[in-house]
Amino acid sequence: MASEMLLKARAFEEKYMPFVPKEERPLFHVTGGVGWINDPNGFSVYKGEYHLFYQYHPYSTQWGPMHWGHVKTKDFIKWERLPIALAPDTEPDKNGCFSGGAVEMTDGRQLLVYTGRKTIRSASGLMKEAQTQCIAIGDGIDYEKHPLNPVIGASLLPAGGSTEDFRDPKVWREGDTYYVVAGNRTPDGSGAILLYESKDAVNWSFVTTLDMSRNEFGRMWECPDFFSLDGQQVLLTSPQEMLPMGLEFHAGYGTVCMIGTYDPEKHRFDREGAQAIDYGLDFYAPQTLETPDGRRVMIAWMQNWSTTAAKKLDAHLYGEMTLPRELSIRNGRLYQNPVREIENYRGHRVVYRNVLIHKDTNLMGIEGRALDMTIHIRPASSTMFNYFYMHLAKDGRFVTTVRYKTANNTVRIDRSHCGFAHDIVNVREFLVAPSGGELKMRVILDKHSLELFINDGEQAATSLIYTHDGAQAISFEADGDVLLDVEKYSLIF
Ligand code: FRU
Repeated sequence: MASEMLLKARAFEEKYMPFVPKEERPLFHVTGGVGWINDPNGFSVYKGEYHLFYQYHPYSTQWGPMHWGHVKTKDFIKWERLPIALAPDTEPDKNGCFSGGAVEMTDGRQLLVYTGRKTIRSASGLMKEAQTQCIAIGDGIDYEKHPLNPVIGASLLPAGGSTEDFRDPKVWREGDTYYVVAGNRTPDGSGAILLYESKDAVNWSFVTTLDMSRNEFGRMWECPDFFSLDGQQVLLTSPQEMLPMGLEFHAGYGTVCMIGTYDPEKHRFDREGAQAIDYGLDFYAPQTLETPDGRRVMIAWMQNWSTTAAKKLDAHLYGEMTLPRELSIRNGRLYQNPVREIENYRGHRVVYRNVLIHKDTNLMGIEGRALDMTIHIRPASSTMFNYFYMHLAKDGRFVTTVRYKTANNTVRIDRSHCGFAHDIVNVREFLVAPSGGELKMRVILDKHSLELFINDGEQAATSLIYTHDGAQAISFEADGDVLLDVEKYSLIF
């Protein structure tokens, strides 16, 4: 039975969704019906379709008591909105249904595992968090919370584990065994990833601590995911309060991909390397699923907690998801490319080969705000150029610039002049690896977002661009002679 609180949220969404102006909605990226969204949740396959839930506060464009919004898709591009799935309407989750995962159960029902959040008064009189893991079971639309919630509480924490920061269970099933990884903190204050198992999704046991930060990669480790990929094991997490490391990790809310090996008998994960997942300005809390044809696909919140206070006052929506990406491992690194289904939406194609670029140049037919464009940048003569610039979403006043600097092999995204009147971080720079003197970039634009894929997915960099839709121009510029190939498709919906 849906609670009054859930019915109220569903009715609110239905009533106010039509008031969201069309210009505010991206064409193929997921947003809430109305109001605020953050992390993707429950990204999973259910009865042959891909389901995505998300952290949702429909009542305003601010974070608030967390509900779970719900959409589904057959191809990762066109999404169907479903009724809100969860509201914070029971004792263990009375202050929010925080992030979690979903999986199809052995009996065909859909299991949601999420964090119940309560705030309680501590002995000192201050309020403190009490986070536990809860389940809800349903048919793909309506879900019943289990009467035995929380199913993973403080008693199942390892010694010294934090009861305040214990969240974001990602669930999967192997045969008839359910597994969950969840974020926690160890007594040194920094993050750890715990593994649990269960035969019935109700009775859980603690298995092991898979990995921990030891104050190296930030403090609390949020939103973990754990899966095998191309013969290796991958642990993803989004740490809070990271310190910067070179151009690999920026300060604040980061994302880390750890690649290593896993012994499934001993449940032992050995980390061999760590890298940033995305090098742009807006990317957090990614989650993955495995498609029936064996692809590992990832989606993330296309936003950054540090900038959430800055928003347009009259906005009806806040927060959107990235385009889902196919993952692979090559040369020990995580590669990401847009899901291949996006190619089904390609329309008009414009191609240029070996165009000589020097001063700021517009190429006929290369413009727009919903497009899939790949460029190859290489020197035209023996004199090396120092800088190459791609200007996007440009009019006489606004522009976002992607700069490639050859002297130190960096790419820099600069949206300082994109038209947003807030003092937020607007520039991000990262190292790239040109091959044979050439750098390749694929650009996906969907109105207010820029997703950049370097060298066939060796790196991804995602940023929002807060520019009005009328700024459609694209131009290229260099301080020496560059030979440029461009292949651009409009994306049609
Ligand atoms: C990450 C996060 C999660 C939490 C959720 C609350 O963005 O802080 O750890 O479950 O957001 O909305």
